[in-house]
Amino acid sequence: MKIRVSTLLAGSIIAVSLLSVASQAAATATVDVYKSPTCGCCDKWVDHMREHGFTVKTHDVGNKEIRKKSGISESLGSCHTALVNGYAIEGHVPAPDILRLLKEKPKAVGLAVPDMPHGTPGMEGARSDPYNVLLIKERDEARKDTTIYNRYDPYAKKAEQSQSANPEPEKSGSVMRLK
Ligand code: CU
Ligand code: CU
Repeated sequence: MKIRVSTLLAGSIIAVSLLSVASQAAATATVDVYKSPTCGCCDKWVDHMREHGFTVKTHDVGNKEIRKKSGISESLGSCHTALVNGYAIEGHVPAPDILRLLKEKPKAVGLAVPDMPHGTPGMEGARSDPYNVLLIKERDEARKDTTIYNRYDPYAKKAEQSQSANPEPEKSGSVMRLK
């Protein structure tokens, strides 16, 4: 019994210290966000980042130039580009994935969620679509050559919860494309 209690205790100590490491990474990280001054979903993503402890500086000059300079190909493009600790972040990437990136420090250009999928942070609404967070390993890497860093699939979650034999109809071509 004693062993089990101490194991539990050790487990929770590890969990707590992991949590503090994660928030420390955020607390010391300043994120520079390049976006258009009229982009509402960009502002919402900035709020999402601040809620996760990041310090955010916004630059309302658009993101095309900085995207190119950062080595993010146009095929990965979204509405805003952010720079943090030497990494580039394109689009509505969830803050927990960025915290993981800052902790694991892989050799990479950064992360991207291309286009603007419904249900990403800053793009919340009535619908949520599956999407991938992509790891860009090389500069100017094409979208098809990136690695999946994380996947969000609300349909899989729903199926797990209800376990009904009634799958959601496939909704295709629904991603909001950038013009
Ligand atoms: Cu957006
Ligand atoms: Cu944006």
